[in-house]
Amino acid sequence: MRHSPQHYSKPAKKLNAVAEIQIHDKVFVSFISKEKINARLAELAAQINADYAGKNPIVIGILNGSFIFAADIFRLLTIEAEISFIKLASYKGTSSTGNVVTAIGLEETLKGRHVIIVEDIIDTGKTLHSFLPELHNRQAASVKIATFLSKPEALKYEVKADYCAFEIENKFVVGYGLDYDGLGRNIPELYVLK
Ligand code: IMP
Ligand code: MG
Repeated sequence: MRHSPQHYSKPAKKLNAVAEIQIHDKVFVSFISKEKINARLAELAAQINADYAGKNPIVIGILNGSFIFAADIFRLLTIEAEISFIKLASYKGTSSTGNVVTAIGLEETLKGRHVIIVEDIIDTGKTLHSFLPELHNRQAASVKIATFLSKPEALKYEVKADYCAFEIENKFVVGYGLDYDGLGRNIPELYVLK
């Protein structure tokens, strides 16, 4: 089935039921359902709630990819917590460009704060590897990483997620905030390249 612009205007439920979608030149197949995502997010949130009780952490989402995961996990936090976003980019098409660019800076003071970085996916690890020293320069009390996905086989830089919803094979995925050349972020569940 073609994933044409018309499909985006249909209710999310319709997209959910589709086994195969096309985005640009590529076909993707259904991979991780919204039910599985929700169940796993509840587990992660329970862990974060327990680990950060009384600590008032600041969650920092890395735009664009993390915005869905950040919004979903943030609403499951029952502790006092703040949220902010920054924009970094190291990706174009289906292979990493290797360049990390900060497009939107962080205004909040992080000195003495417990920081939880929220990412959509740790692929090569370059994005977070380049950004973490910046957090340490700002004298955060602690820094942990929560990622929706990680691809352990693709990792080239030393980055370890403290909270990871799903470890996946080294395959290109879209949906749940992740894009293929700008499209696919609004698909409610995860699809993988056929
Ligand atoms: P890293 O710096 O190589 O870890 O790449 C991280 C960024 O690459 C993520 O935040 C995503 O924006 C993008 N990325 C990596 N793998 C995928 C994928 O399978 N689908 C969509 N985007 C991806
Ligand atoms: Mg991306």
